[in-house]
Formats: sequence, C-alpha cells, structure tokens
Amino acid sequence: MTYEIDKSIMRCRAFAEAAGYTKSALALKAGLSTGTLKDFWQDHWSPTATTLRAIEALIPLGSTILPDVALAPMNKGLLTGQRILLIIGGGIAAYKSLDLARRLMERGASVTGVLTKGGAEFITPLSVASLTGHECYTDLFSLKDEADMGHIRLSRECDVILVAPATADMMAKMAAGLAGDLATTVLLATDKPVIIAPAMNAQMWAHPATRRNMTTLKADGIDFIDAAEGMLACGEVGKGRMADVMDMVAHIEAFFIKPMASNTSLPLPLRNKHIVITAGPTIEPIDPVRYIANRSSGKQGFDIAAACAALGAQVTLVAGPVNQPDPIGVKRVNVESAREMQAAVNQALPADVFVGVAAVADWRAVHDVAQKMKKEHTGLPALELVENPDILATISQRKQHRPSLVVGFAAETQNVADFATAKRKRKGCDWIMANDVSASTGIMGGDENQVILINDKVIDYWPKMCKKDVAEKLAQCIADHLENLNAARRFSAK
Ligand code: PMT
Repeated sequence: MTYEIDKSIMRCRAFAEAAGYTKSALALKAGLSTGTLKDFWQDHWSPTATTLRAIEALIPLGSTILPDVALAPMNKGLLTGQRILLIIGGGIAAYKSLDLARRLMERGASVTGVLTKGGAEFITPLSVASLTGHECYTDLFSLKDEADMGHIRLSRECDVILVAPATADMMAKMAAGLAGDLATTVLLATDKPVIIAPAMNAQMWAHPATRRNMTTLKADGIDFIDAAEGMLACGEVGKGRMADVMDMVAHIEAFFIKPMASNTSLPLPLRNKHIVITAGPTIEPIDPVRYIANRSSGKQGFDIAAACAALGAQVTLVAGPVNQPDPIGVKRVNVESAREMQAAVNQALPADVFVGVAAVADWRAVHDVAQKMKKEHTGLPALELVENPDILATISQRKQHRPSLVVGFAAETQNVADFATAKRKRKGCDWIMANDVSASTGIMGGDENQVILINDKVIDYWPKMCKKDVAEKLAQCIADHLENLNAARRFSAK
C-alpha cells in the first residue's frame, strides 16, 4: 500500500515537473489549496488520497512521460542544481535526447534545450519545452529570444553544454569555428565546458575528415562521449550510434563528480571508505577451449561500483570476464575463475564494506585438462565437479578484519524472499539483496532489476528500476548504515 502511494507521489511529481507546473499553478489546476502542496517536493510530503487523486486526474491518459520517471527518485541525484544546455542536432538519435533530458532532470539537473533545424525534423520544440519545463530555443534571429535570452547569455548561463546528437556536419562546423545558426553561435560564444555525443553512419564516422575534426575538437578541449557500435538507423552495422542514454548520464555525472571528489570540503558520505565489490560471472575451465559460465553481464555490480565511487568511496571492483567499460574512479581487477576472484578479493582487503554481486560458479571441473578433450566414439566424457570456495561466506565469517558491512546478492528462481533469507543466515552476511533471475524476468544480463533488501530486521521490497538506480539507492543505504554505525560508536564512547 505504501509503495502504491509512493508511486503515486512520484508520478504526480514527475508530471508536475515534466509539465513545468509551479506549486501554485498545480494547486489551481487541481482545485486544491496551495497549502495542501506546501511540501510537494519534500520527502516528508504526505498527501491524502484525495489530493493524489486530484493531481493524478490531470495526467493525460496514455502519457509516455511517466512510467519510468515515476519509479525514480526525483531531485535527489548527483546533478542537483547543475544547469545543462542541451543542443539537439539533426539525426534520428534526436528522439533519444528527450529521454536523456528526462534522466538528467530525474537526477536533479535543470535542462534547457536548443534544437537545430535538422533536429526539428525529428522532434518538436514543443516536446522539448514541455519535457524540460523551459523554452526550447531554435532561432538565432528570433527577436523574442534575443530580447529575452540572447545567444551570449544562453551560452554562459549554464554549467555545461551538451551536444546530443552531434552530427558529422555539426562537428565539422564546430571544428571550423562556423557560427551560422543558434547552436553553432552558442558553441562559439561559450566559456563553459562542452561535451558532445556523436551520432552518424559508420562510414561517416570512419571518414578521414571526421577523424580530423575529432582531433581538432579534442585539442580544443571538447569532451567526447564515445559513439557506440551496433545496428545503425540506415540498416548498416558498425560504430557511429549515439551512446546509450544511461551511459551518457554516467558520463555527465562523472564530469561533475570529478571536481566534487577532489574538493575535500564537500560532504561525500563514503569518503575515506574502502569498498570491495565483485561483479560478473566466473568461468571455470574444462579444457583449454571449453568452460562453465553463466549469463551475468556485470552491469549491476559495475553500476554499484560507480555509485559508491560517486559518493566518494575508494572502490576495488573485482570483475569476471564481462564487456563493461571501467567505471570512473574505480580500481578494476580482472579475473576469470572463482579461485582467482577469491585471491583478488583477499588481496584487496581490508575494506569497510564488501558487496558480492558476482555470479560465482558454485562448481568447477575436478580436472582442468591441459589438452583439448577429443570427441571419442566410445561414449560421452564424464564431467566431474568439485565445489568452489564461497567468497561471501568466507568474508562474512572472518573473525579478524571483517568488513563492517557485508552484502551479498541472492539469485533465486522461486520462493525468492524465503530462500534468500535462509541464504543470508547460512552465509552469515549482514544484508542480502534478493532478485528473481527466472528467464522471464530478464534480470540476469538485462538493464533492470527488482530487489528485496533483507537483513535481520527488515524485508524491504524495492520497485523495479534500472540497475543504475538500484545501485544509487544501495550506495545511499550503505552510506546511511555506516553513518549510523559511526553515530552509535560515538554515543557508546561517551
Ligand atoms: O550481472 P548482471 O547481468 O547485472 O546480473 C546481476 C545478478 C543477477 C548477477 C546479481 O543481481 C546477482 O543476483 N548476483 C548474485 C549471483 C549469485 O551467484 O547468487 P547466489 O545466490 O548463487 O550466491 C549468493 C551470494 O554468494 C552472492 O553474493 C555470490 O556472489 C556469493 N557467492 C556464491 C558462490 C560462491 N562460490 N562464492 C560466493 O561468494
């Protein structure tokens, strides 16, 4: 029930933010007194069902803005207070920039859009404006914009300019210093950092002219969010897709975090804490070419590493073989087997916190044969297995130098909460994050997760979220827990 109310609150806030309502405008529209919405954006706002119903009634049926936003924490993120000028260039990836704007706003940023003529072939200024809650600027020669917010002010009154998608044409103009429209004029006039997310066809990406322009732009101090590989809009496969939205969000967060982390006066809650995290699968050799493996992608563990680093922690990430980029500010140690993972974890200890996200293989082949096993016609070979060391249990049961908090993950396919509760007790960890890895959930290997945090006091069901949001929420819980432990220690020392 609480969860339903929380969801409704999030939905109402997401709607109010996306539609650009002030509190009083929202109250007027919903027929409520302004006092009812007094603490609308605050955590302790506890509306009645009637209030929520009145606001929910304003949300257009079939609204596509709301479902994801509704589940994400609003205005609490790492980008709180950052002003981002988002220049949307003319490519099919322009539609992804709407989602990008939403995700940045969810994390507390204020986003103002500039739409190029090409960008406006794909999305409208109205959709950008209604999503960001700010006017979307399009025209260099618009008297209104010049009177209201000239291009010089536009280029200065932000903390960063983000160009997404940055087309080959836009990059060429930037490299040449052209200023024939609002976007390029703003980019030439700005004294703020510029980040660009290129998007183009693979041949255009590889063309010597584009490579030259990239070199020039990098030398000019432009920061790049590297293009991704995959199926392109034109049907070809190769490098040139605009990066995934969540990767762009991570890049922008890292951009703001770097100076924050080096600023020792900022109150980062995990500063001076060492956190060791395992992620990904382990692979267990059968012979030189065959191995036992599982479907873990490493995403969840890598996101947790990034989220802890963002809160100031010193993070060692021990990763099985996965195709994930290094999280910013994290020390990564690559391993393959469970025994290698255990050795790397032991090497990384001592730590304040251990988080075991890896899908460690429970068993390995008794004999790791030096030569490739031949397919004999005399019958099937026997695969004899032996149990791997249990990294989580070993750390949990340490008598000396046990981390203050040991967190495991439980991958279950049935009776999730019950089996995970028993697993927590058996292994001896403090918390276990249970998730249902049945094939139908798509959690293992996918982008979303739905977890249950279980400790000796609570069984807390979290809503389905993207793995990055799960990671941020867990990192915050870890920070709160360590703070409480500290407070308790200070109290008992008195
Ligand atoms: O990597 P992703 O695609 O993002 O997917 C994330 C995930 C589904 C892998 C992750 O959320 C998850 O559930 N990780 C735990 C996977 C697992 O091995 O669960 P388990 O129930 O078998 O093990 C319980 C705990 O013991 C885990 O913390 C595991 O790391 C640990 N363990 C298990 C066996 C072993 N030999 N040593 C261990 O440390």
